[in-house]
Amino acid sequence: MNTFEYIDGRLHCEDVDLSILGETYGTPSYVYSKKTIHENAKAYVNSFTNSDNLACFAVKSLSNLSILNIIKNSGCGFDIVSGGELNRVLSIGAEPKKVIFSGVGKTKKEIEQGINSGILSFNVESESELYRIEKVAEEIGSPAPISIRINPDIDSGGHDYITTGRKGDKFGISETRKIIDLCKHAHRAKHLKIVGLACHIGSQILDLDGFIKSADKIFELADELANFDISLEFLDLGGGLGISYEDEVPPSPFDLISCLEEKFKNRKERLILEPGRSISANAGILLTQVEYIKDNFLIVDAAMNDLLRPSLYKAHHDVCNVIDKKDNLKKWNIVGPICESSDFLAKNISLDVNEDDLIAIKNAGAYGFVMASNYNSRPKACEILIDGNESKIIRKRETLDDLLEKEKIVND
Ligand code: LLP
Repeated sequence: MNTFEYIDGRLHCEDVDLSILGETYGTPSYVYSKKTIHENAKAYVNSFTNSDNLACFAVKSLSNLSILNIIKNSGCGFDIVSGGELNRVLSIGAEPKKVIFSGVGKTKKEIEQGINSGILSFNVESESELYRIEKVAEEIGSPAPISIRINPDIDSGGHDYITTGRKGDKFGISETRKIIDLCKHAHRAKHLKIVGLACHIGSQILDLDGFIKSADKIFELADELANFDISLEFLDLGGGLGISYEDEVPPSPFDLISCLEEKFKNRKERLILEPGRSISANAGILLTQVEYIKDNFLIVDAAMNDLLRPSLYKAHHDVCNVIDKKDNLKKWNIVGPICESSDFLAKNISLDVNEDDLIAIKNAGAYGFVMASNYNSRPKACEILIDGNESKIIRKRETLDDLLEKEKIVND
């Protein structure tokens, strides 16, 4: 679905005219559509035919509290990777039993936080982590639910930096023997409860092959564990479904889920998925204003500190005018004010544009604001949620004072 559309030549998000929004709240601003978030989350929830199956939204892709609340109300759980993300989901009243804790570097404190809040499971990514969780659980006196994240040695394609399931990647455990031994240990241990197996092979995946292969590998392991009387509650196949940034045609959540439910039909474990981008990406744009035009550069007021994806992965984001015009199209490189040549938001974009015009960088909902920084002492943009004809600030624009707040001048 697309809720960013021109109405009478002016770009709208739902029923709100983005040119008016830009005047009201300033730029750069992240703008999200509530309807899109809700419908994208529902596309997962409604595709399950077995109501025990669960989509846990990957909080890392877009973590604003209002957005998480919409996603919770759509029926999703959450995939988290830090104490900070756990705090976020608990603060919106998420059910702990719908929370999966992934990530290779869980600290003792984070593990305590997870056990004390009663999460569904820790996705364990190494032998050392398993023993650490066991120790913390023993200290707390409450058993910890765990699932082992396997590294299935599957290349999901896409950018090298976001492929996670190949041998040699830092994620999960590769050796089958070790996984079985760890599961056997957990099965016997008083303070561990083995509840599942997990994997996540990468992001922006454009076909179902990798998911099918992962399911086969995980089934094989689960069957082998059954020989040792270890039965599992769920099998978690991770996130990763791609979206259309340019002309890609990814499978839909429905395609993914029908294919996997078909494979799960004779199994007793439930299916868990961890979608991020496919729920959040097309629900957000980054609104920015053209400050200067120089040669073929549009110098805008957003920068790599606001949206890092183009600089970090050479990721492509389409860009469009807020007020539609096409009489004088030219190719532009859209850059920010940061003192780095890698500070670009898009290259070779055809637009008819003048200084002071507002433009929208599309598909910026996922891995957009969450990856923002204060580089060059730039305050972070505000986040705005659109609901029909209403707009609400869901994160204030940072001020210059905010940037100094945590610092101290000490006497020399
Ligand atoms: N589960 C785990 C364990 C993950 O590591 C990730 C993403 C997800 C789920 C969600 O994947 P998704 O459905 O969003 O593809 N910053 C990069 C993407 C990094 C993805 C990291 N892990 C980007 O901007 O493209």
